[in-house]
Amino acid sequence: MSVPSLTLNDQTTIPQFGLGVWQVPADDTHRVVSEAFELGYRHIDTAQMYGNEAGVGSALAASGLARDQVYVTTKLNNGFHEPARAKQSLEQSLEKLQLDQVDLFLIHWPLPSRYDGNFTRTWETLVELRDAGLTRSVGVSNFQAAHLDTIVAATGVVPAVNQIEVHPYFDNAAREATLRHGALVEGWSPLGQGGGELDDPVITGLAERYGKSPAQIILRWHLDRGDIVFPKSTRRERLAENIDVFDFALTTEEIAAVAALDKGEAGRTGPNPDTFDWIPA
Ligand code: A2P
Repeated sequence: MSVPSLTLNDQTTIPQFGLGVWQVPADDTHRVVSEAFELGYRHIDTAQMYGNEAGVGSALAASGLARDQVYVTTKLNNGFHEPARAKQSLEQSLEKLQLDQVDLFLIHWPLPSRYDGNFTRTWETLVELRDAGLTRSVGVSNFQAAHLDTIVAATGVVPAVNQIEVHPYFDNAAREATLRHGALVEGWSPLGQGGGELDDPVITGLAERYGKSPAQIILRWHLDRGDIVFPKSTRRERLAENIDVFDFALTTEEIAAVAALDKGEAGRTGPNPDTFDWIPA
């Protein structure tokens, strides 16, 4: 079993598969991340707003893994888009993560109705943080096609990734735009967060055909389309199940059959980035 690496548009590499720790409670994060490392995970996706960076950091420190063996992503808090605060909060993240540099730092949400709609300035700030060495790569999350067009036209810098909601019932239109710009797609909520995909007959039929679980079929679908995924689980047996997807592949027809389950906007489970404006208290 080995997790492939993909090359980003800044020529750095990223493991295509990892662990996402959204909704992993802060006091459980050290255990979950440590178990993931034991099972072979080498890519952790966290965020300032998840409140669990310290648990990721302590698990990393305790793992004994060399820094270049583990890929770590974090994301800018919605309340810290002003340039000086963005820098300060990345420095605080690094302290919690016990690192000198993260591998990838993302704008978590574009917040087009906040900060005078100036997410281009936020993007310029991230590029400066990269140039200052605080992060190896920079990208965005939850950017719609128009948001991507705006920052690329203004700065000429294409994000390394766009992390967006993608799962069989929601084949996010922002995915095409991301690929068109030459960025890779990171799919959040890859399993659809219990939205019914795991019980869909197309998925369970493929599970039977391959002798795999429905979750493994869905993860394989993302990987076979070239996207990066990091399913979340707090249970060791599911962590093991989710990484056990590198001994089979779906056919072109099977990939298309899963993509055909798309329900358009009705399949979205999370907020719409065009209107989402939440800032933590
Ligand atoms: P749990 O943490 O109790 O395992 P997503 O990554 O799409 O957001 O999905 C995460 C949700 O899917 C969580 O509720 C998680 O629950 C559950 N989950 C993770 N892995 C599996 C799996 N292999 N089979 C079924 N459910 C899973």
